[in-house]
Amino acid sequence: MLEAKNIGYWYTHKDDYLFKDVNLTFEAGQSYAIVGQSGSGKTTFLSLLAGLDQPKAGQILYEGQDIKKIGMTNYRKRDVSVVFQSYNLFTYMSPLDNLLTAMAITGSQHAGDKEFAATMLKKLGITEDLMRKNVQHLSGGQQQRVAIARTMACDAQLVVADEPTGNLDENNTVEVVGLFQKIAHEQGKCVIIVTHESAVAEMCDTTYRLEKKVFSQV
Ligand SMILES: Nc1ncnc2c1ncn2[C@@H]1O[C@H](COP(=O)(O)OP(=O)(O)O)[C@@H](O)[C@H]1O
Ligand SMILES: [Mg+2]
Repeated sequence: MLEAKNIGYWYTHKDDYLFKDVNLTFEAGQSYAIVGQSGSGKTTFLSLLAGLDQPKAGQILYEGQDIKKIGMTNYRKRDVSVVFQSYNLFTYMSPLDNLLTAMAITGSQHAGDKEFAATMLKKLGITEDLMRKNVQHLSGGQQQRVAIARTMACDAQLVVADEPTGNLDENNTVEVVGLFQKIAHEQGKCVIIVTHESAVAEMCDTTYRLEKKVFSQV
């Protein structure tokens, strides 16, 4: 589904590259962890996969097509769904409106379907009562569930997450990674999680480690 081809990236000098000649593939229906020390370039790499930044060398292929050719804006809007450590919800809205807004913005096939949004939230344990409150009144674990429900309600087949369990306790971490597994295995989406927690990586189907500027499968 997604292919990194000869990817290279540096911020200031070519000689100071974070990684180069990276060739990795990501399949639908599978979950992937990308691990590595802080500062190794995980977030940078994820931002390339998500079309938030462009590689200095190489190509990102989505369904065999260069995402530059798809158009970065189209790609971000239609094909990729991003989950952040800090949830990135619309803080002045309820969980239900967060989902409905995301579904409208991305042109989901379920756009406007309140019932569908509510069903996704309920699946993740957000009750009828909670889904109508301002998200700021929810706990961290609950807010992250809303962010995950949002990726489930949208059509994007690629889900990328940057340290999605970084603000969660152990119990919530296990549950949230379990939800990502469901998105991969039950919805058939491709899930890529950047994490520095080995417990999170162990729960994913495949782990790639970025170490000394080189990616390798663990
Ligand atoms: N916008 C930027 N400009 C210059 N250097 C950056 C920028 N963003 C990140 N870096 C540097 O690139 C390296 C990799 O950062 P990052 O991708 O955030 O790593 P990780 O997510 O693995 O902690 C770090 O040394 C960081 O300081
Ligand atoms: Mg990071």
